[in-house]
Amino acid sequence: MSDVLQYEGKRVIVTGAASGMGAATAQILVDLGAEVHAIDIKKPEVTGLASFSQCDLRDPAQIDETVRKIGKIVNALFNCAGLPNTFPDLDVMLVNFCGLRQVTESVIPLMIEGSSIASIASTAGIGWMQNMELLFGLVLTPDFAAARAWCEEHPKELANAYGLSKEAINAYTAFRSFNLAKDGIRINCVNPGPTDTPMMPEFEKAVGKKYMDDFPVPLGRHAVADEQAWPMVFLNSPRSSFVTGLQFDCDGGFKGGLFTGQIDPTVLMPEGFGDA
Ligand SMILES: NC(=O)c1ccc[n+]([C@@H]2O[C@H](COP(=O)([O-])OP(=O)(O)OC[C@H]3O[C@@H](n4cnc5c(N)ncnc54)[C@H](O)[C@@H]3O)[C@@H](O)[C@H]2O)c1
Repeated sequence: MSDVLQYEGKRVIVTGAASGMGAATAQILVDLGAEVHAIDIKKPEVTGLASFSQCDLRDPAQIDETVRKIGKIVNALFNCAGLPNTFPDLDVMLVNFCGLRQVTESVIPLMIEGSSIASIASTAGIGWMQNMELLFGLVLTPDFAAARAWCEEHPKELANAYGLSKEAINAYTAFRSFNLAKDGIRINCVNPGPTDTPMMPEFEKAVGKKYMDDFPVPLGRHAVADEQAWPMVFLNSPRSSFVTGLQFDCDGGFKGGLFTGQIDPTVLMPEGFGDA
C-alpha cells in the first residue's frame, strides 16, 4: 500500500516549523508528499517547503494576513509553535494559546469536510479538567484582543503562564471539537512529556536541570522531536477519521503511572512543576 497516511498532494500548514517538533513535523509531511506551508518567527531549514511566512504569533493582524496569503483549501493545520516559561508571562500566553487559537480560527474557513487540526499542548496542562471554570473564562473569549485582555486581568493565574496556556489548549480542543464535528472537521491535541529539543535548556533554566533529568518517565528517557511529530501526523491523517476532541498523552507512560497511583503526585509536582 502506498501513501498509507494519505498526505500526498494535501495542503497543510505547520506553525513553529523552524525548530524542534515543528521542524520534525514539517519534514515528515514534505517526505510524505504534502504541500507544506510553514509559519514561524524564524526561518526554517526544512527542505522542500511550498512556502514560508515569517509571522509573530503575538500579533493577530500578522496571523490573519499570513493565513490570507496562504489561502485556498487547507487540509490540515499543525499548531507546533510555543514559548517556554523563561519568557515573559504575557508573551507565553499570547503565543501558546491566543495566537494558536487565532491561527486555528483563521484557517477553519479554508477547511473542507475531512480537514483536521492538531496542536501541541504539554504534560504541564494535565490538570485542565480540574480547572474548567477558570479556563472557560479564557477559552470562550470572542477574539484575540479579548483573550489578551483576560490575560492582563489575571496576573495571579499568569504566574503559571506555561501550564495555564497548555491547559487552555486542552480545554479549547475539547470544546471546539463538538461544534466543528458537524462540518466534518476534526481537532485534537498532544500532551508531550520532556522532549530533547532546543526548548529543553529553557525548561532546565526555569526549574533546574536535575528536576528535568529526574522527571519520572516510565520509559526511562526523554523523547526526541520525531516521537512527538509522528503522533501529530497520525492524528491529522484521514486514517484517524473518527478521532476528535482527543488529548493524546505522548509522555512515555507518565499519565498512566500518575493516574494509577504508581507515580506520587506530591513528589512530582514541587513548586515550579506547572511551569515545566
Ligand atoms: N520540549 C519539550 O520538552 C516540550 C514538552 C511539552 C510540550 N512542548 C511544546 O512543544 C511545542 C514545540 O516545542 P519544541 O520543544 O519543539 O521547542 P522549539 O523551541 O524547538 O520550537 C518552538 C518553535 O516556536 C517558534 N516560535 C516561538 N515564538 C514564536 C512566535 N512569537 N511566533 C511564531 N513562532 C514562534 C520558534 O521560533 C520555534 O521554531 C511547544 O508548543 C512546546 O511548548 C515541548
